[in-house]
This record gives sequence, structure tokens and C-alpha cells, in this order.
Amino acid sequence: MDEQYEIIKVIMDGRLHLAPFTREKYPRKVLDIATGTGLWAIEMGDEYPDAEIVGTDLSPIQPPFVPPNNGMHALLSLPLKPLPTNMYSRDYPPSEFDLIHTRVTIGCWADMKKEIIARAFHHLKPGGWLECQEVPGMPHCDDGTMPPDYDWLKWTLELYNSSRLANRQVDVGEQLKDWMREVGFVDVHEAVFKIPLNGWPKDTRLKHVGMLWQRNLLDGLQGFSLGFFSKHLGKTQEEIEVFFFPFQQHIFFFCLS
Ligand SMILES: C[S@@+](CC[C@H](N)C(=O)[O-])C[C@H]1O[C@@H](n2cnc3c(N)ncnc32)[C@H](O)[C@@H]1O
Repeated sequence: MDEQYEIIKVIMDGRLHLAPFTREKYPRKVLDIATGTGLWAIEMGDEYPDAEIVGTDLSPIQPPFVPPNNGMHALLSLPLKPLPTNMYSRDYPPSEFDLIHTRVTIGCWADMKKEIIARAFHHLKPGGWLECQEVPGMPHCDDGTMPPDYDWLKWTLELYNSSRLANRQVDVGEQLKDWMREVGFVDVHEAVFKIPLNGWPKDTRLKHVGMLWQRNLLDGLQGFSLGFFSKHLGKTQEEIEVFFFPFQQHIFFFCLS
């Protein structure tokens, strides 16, 4: 989790957000939904010492000691159980926050538009911002040379398929901006950043990101595949390992072109 945090930090050149806040015009109250270990919330608290930063999560994995302007709330519920509709809004009136943030939460929600985006609109002050920093995960190749049977592509499509069956759809990245407009947001922006599969780029920054992503994929591939593919596609462990083995090889050794 903290590795994904580092990856996003590097590809965003160290910026914590793209919403137009500055130290002079800082967000007074910030909500970080599914804050995880709370790194973003803690760094936001350091960046804006007079802001109040609240992080919420299903799991109580946040550090016990946080800067005085941070509040961490663990919303205890079973993982993958839909967040009860009153959880998000339990403590917060409408028009409460200047900035609401999500990062790497795709796959956490049964209906991200309804559970997160529409409710963010309700809880933001007029002029407030919702910023979703998400990793959609569909592989692309800049020069269009990715074959349709490329193993990473096949694995991703299988993940998309099983995530729908799990009611935790992960292929929502490209819909986020439309959903924001549909619930009433205006001035919607999309910024797309590339994450290389592994350390193949010559550019040192991209190489660094690629190597972090490679390690992140290798660490998570088996658990992710077993969790989704056995439960929701009825595959055995052996079938799953045979299926992801070629993709694992790509992560280790190859670039696409
Ligand atoms: C991949 S982590 C991302 C954490 C953090 N945003 C970051 O960037 O490091 C996803 C987080 O979502 C939390 N989560 C999953 N489902 C949730 C839900 N329904 N409500 C709140 N948090 C949830 C998990 O406990 C986990 O901490």
C-alpha cells in the first residue's frame, strides 16, 4: 500500500493534489476516504498546518501518533462489505469540506458514483474539490503494438470480469469524469500519467517508477489473482498460477516493443 503511495507521489512530481490549493489559499477541511495507513492525510497535514484533515477507512491500520491537525477514523466493518450508507455522512453535515480525496480505491466500492462521487458533491462546500487519484490498470502501448493476446491484457480483462462478479468493479477509471459531471460537478479535469510495467524506460524517473510498479505487481499478483479468480471464476489454484505465469514473466523480463 505504501509502495503504491510512493509510485503516485513520484509520477505526480511530489505534488499531493492537483486541485488548485496553495499554502496561501489552503483547504480548511479535508476528507481522505479509504486513507489506508494515512500517509496522504499526514503529509497534507504537514503541508497545510492550519487545515483540519480527516482520514476514514474500514481498517484500523492508521498510526496512533499523527500531527495535531489530523483525525483518523477507522470505520469498522467487514472488508468488502458495502459501507452502510450512513457511514460516510454519519458525522458530517452537507457542505463541510473544501477537498475530498481518494487514492487507489478502485475496487473498494460497489457503486463509486453513488457511494463516493455523489456523496462528495453533497459534503463539499460550494467551490470545493473532489480529487480521485486512481490507477485504472488497463495496459496500453504508446505505439499500438500490443497484441490482443498479450498476457498482461488477458490477465487484466479477467480481473475486470471477476471484479464485476464480486460487485467491486475495477474498470471504472475512464468513467470517473463523466460520473462527476453527471452528479453536478463543473470544472472537471482529467490528468493521465503513465506507469511503466517495469524498469525498461531510459528516463531515470520513469525507470524508478517502473521498478516500484514491478515490485508492487510481483508482490500482489498471486494474492490478487487467487482472491478474485478462485472465488468468482471458480478456478483452482493450479489453473490460476498457470494463467498468470506468462504475465509474471513479462513483469520480470520483457518490454513490449
Ligand atoms: C489500496 S488501499 C489505499 C489506501 C490509501 N488511499 C493509499 O493511497 O495509500 C485501499 C484502502 O481502502 C480501504 N477500504 C476498502 N473498502 C473500503 C470501504 N468500503 N470503506 C472505507 N475504506 C475501504 C482499505 O481498508 C484500504 O485501506
